[in-house]
Amino acid sequence: MTQTDASATPAPAAVDADPKKQVTGYCEPWALRAGETIRLMASSHQPGPARIDITQIVCGDPTRYGPGFEERPAPTAGSWSVTLDEEPLIPGSYGVATLDRVSGASRLGLRVWLMPTLLDRPARIATLCARVANASADAAMVEALHLDLADGRAVASTSVAGKETQVVVDDLPLTRNRWYLLDAELDLDVGTLSATVTTAISDSPGRDAVEGGRLSDLSISRLEAELDGATGEDGSRHGASGAASVEAPIGAGVLAPAELWLGAGPGGERFDGRLARPLLRAGDSTVSWDLSADMAGRTVPADDLASGPIVLHQLPTRAITGPAWDGSAHRWADNPAHFDAVHFHHDDLYDAGWDTTVTATLPDDLPSGIYAFRVRSDAGEDRVPFFVRPGSGARTNDVALLMPTATYMAYANHRMLFEGADFIPTKTRLRPEHAYIRDHPELGRSHYEKHPDRSGVMFSSRRRPVLNLRPGADGWNFTPDTDINAFLEHLEIGHDIVTDEDLHADGVEAIAPYRVLVTGTHPEYWSTAMLDALADWQRNGGRLMYLGGNGFYWRVSFSDDWPGAMELRRAEDGVRNWQTGPGESYHAWGGEYGGMWRRQGRAPNEICGIGFAAQGFEKATYFVRDPGADSSRAAWILDGVPGERIGTSGLGGGAAGQELDRYDVRLGSPRHAVVLASATTFGPDMLRTKEEFEGSVDFPTPDPMVRADVVFYETPNGGAVFSVGSISWFGALARDGYDNDIARITANVVRRFADPEPFPLPAV
Ligand SMILES: [Fe+2]
Repeated sequence: MTQTDASATPAPAAVDADPKKQVTGYCEPWALRAGETIRLMASSHQPGPARIDITQIVCGDPTRYGPGFEERPAPTAGSWSVTLDEEPLIPGSYGVATLDRVSGASRLGLRVWLMPTLLDRPARIATLCARVANASADAAMVEALHLDLADGRAVASTSVAGKETQVVVDDLPLTRNRWYLLDAELDLDVGTLSATVTTAISDSPGRDAVEGGRLSDLSISRLEAELDGATGEDGSRHGASGAASVEAPIGAGVLAPAELWLGAGPGGERFDGRLARPLLRAGDSTVSWDLSADMAGRTVPADDLASGPIVLHQLPTRAITGPAWDGSAHRWADNPAHFDAVHFHHDDLYDAGWDTTVTATLPDDLPSGIYAFRVRSDAGEDRVPFFVRPGSGARTNDVALLMPTATYMAYANHRMLFEGADFIPTKTRLRPEHAYIRDHPELGRSHYEKHPDRSGVMFSSRRRPVLNLRPGADGWNFTPDTDINAFLEHLEIGHDIVTDEDLHADGVEAIAPYRVLVTGTHPEYWSTAMLDALADWQRNGGRLMYLGGNGFYWRVSFSDDWPGAMELRRAEDGVRNWQTGPGESYHAWGGEYGGMWRRQGRAPNEICGIGFAAQGFEKATYFVRDPGADSSRAAWILDGVPGERIGTSGLGGGAAGQELDRYDVRLGSPRHAVVLASATTFGPDMLRTKEEFEGSVDFPTPDPMVRADVVFYETPNGGAVFSVGSISWFGALARDGYDNDIARITANVVRRFADPEPFPLPAV
């Protein structure tokens, strides 16, 4: 799902007593085994005593579209009396390096390539923190060289012997999204602070005075050489300088250790924009950092290995174009020197870093399930969900529900319900969780937003409170997925919980014990490792029940250096809230080409028989039984379902709605699949997915590409697939106490899929 309206999502119904949320938290990890240890980090805006216990969430959906909210105490898992403090959230990415070799230098210079992406707020671009002293000084004076952005100008400042000196480079106002070379020098011998800003005349003449402007290797090296005095001005650049006198004690020099901060500094606002090629001069020595090194890592080594690496904090964006990028390379691995920049945002938040409130070691025999830390105080309550697999070596059930935690991370703290253009009806009836997200932008954003500087959010983290991952918080993902959990509980067939994170980390081993894998309602985001594991399991006879829509759609990746975070590049095509910039479609983490799996030769149709066709959120509709269904190999799925129309009521008015998937042989749907039923009678809001627009043509009405198909087919080694092609399927399960056609079909499939009897592969 991407651009959405939530009018078909469940109407809010309060679970919490407090209208305004005061208590929040997050846990680490999200997914673990019985017998393992989990930590809760909790906070309250009204500090005070709180009681914490662990409950098992059977159904987290309080609306009438599910069986009702149901949780069970998990008394063996522990309970705690604690005092909650108000923990801070301090967003904003930056980097820091420690420098041991500046000692004694009386000349200090800092050069960095700079592309501001927000100019309407003051920001600290970089800071050199150092102490200055002379031989006679009995106490060192704390000093610094700051590079700031103020009123669209570059500003250098220092404070020596308690006296502030500032240089504003007035004559070259900066424009957004354009590269500048900024150089500042503090000379304590001569007593000057100077700053120079230079930019090349763009290769694109029309863009010279506006945003953007493309440079080149040549213009970059020429600018750097000019600053070094190697060449004279040749008219290929705009430049401006400023200088001021600094009164420094005679014989003053800089003491080690010093620190270089990028994108921030002690005090000052965090910076929005790109920095590249930082270079520090201390006396006659220099140190620089190649920001294209180790793209998946958290540290960037210095060229002078005696100096410290730049350590990155709060996950700035890498694998983006630098000042030298000229369009000749799109894969950063092909020419890293064109991708040697880091993009900082003042709203990046990787790790909230709160103190641990509770550490819980789960009992070895805790049943697999969806659990939550329940935090209760006089100020309110919160539930922080997590997912428990059976203990290591413990007996497993035959059926597992795959909780799409990658998709939960993609949607973490999404702002669509109050920022989306189509969400007017939801803005006035926000649940407390979304009101909290609206009121607390310091929570960080989801993959469904842009940063304030209009760049897409390419990284999302679960190491922070994720307010929409709460029972009943909204009508997408986690809450509907608990409706499927409740349905499986109702069947008493016995099922375990597995997550995307388990699948990514453990590969096929995570799901090998299971004969049947049931997906959530919207398993949209998949890493290569996850898809490979699923395909491996399917080739070995696994039976997949895909009970949702718009699944297996976007590629994501993870990094061992940034655990708990995810990378996404909305490249090339697809229904999406932002697009990757030119040259930025390859992941920093692993270097894979980002975007839709369909564009990578792995369409969802090959995994589950169907693929994303359309979305619309005004109303849902019913399926119509296919004329051949009753005489097909899959007729048993419709046992006890006499009607021609299937799923005629439920969330939004039927079992087919929100996001739809279509059977399509051209995209890889197996020819031997049986289409049991299809839904086609949608309103005008249900529109063909963008990647299927080929020119602006008048689509026929109704559009034959706009369709949800229920399919069944056999796979090798006795396996099978059943897919429903609709997110809204879950919202029709619980009607009449599960006594309805959608529940009957789903139960028929779960029971038969759990039966070891192989499905023979028909001759194709
Ligand atoms: Fe989505």
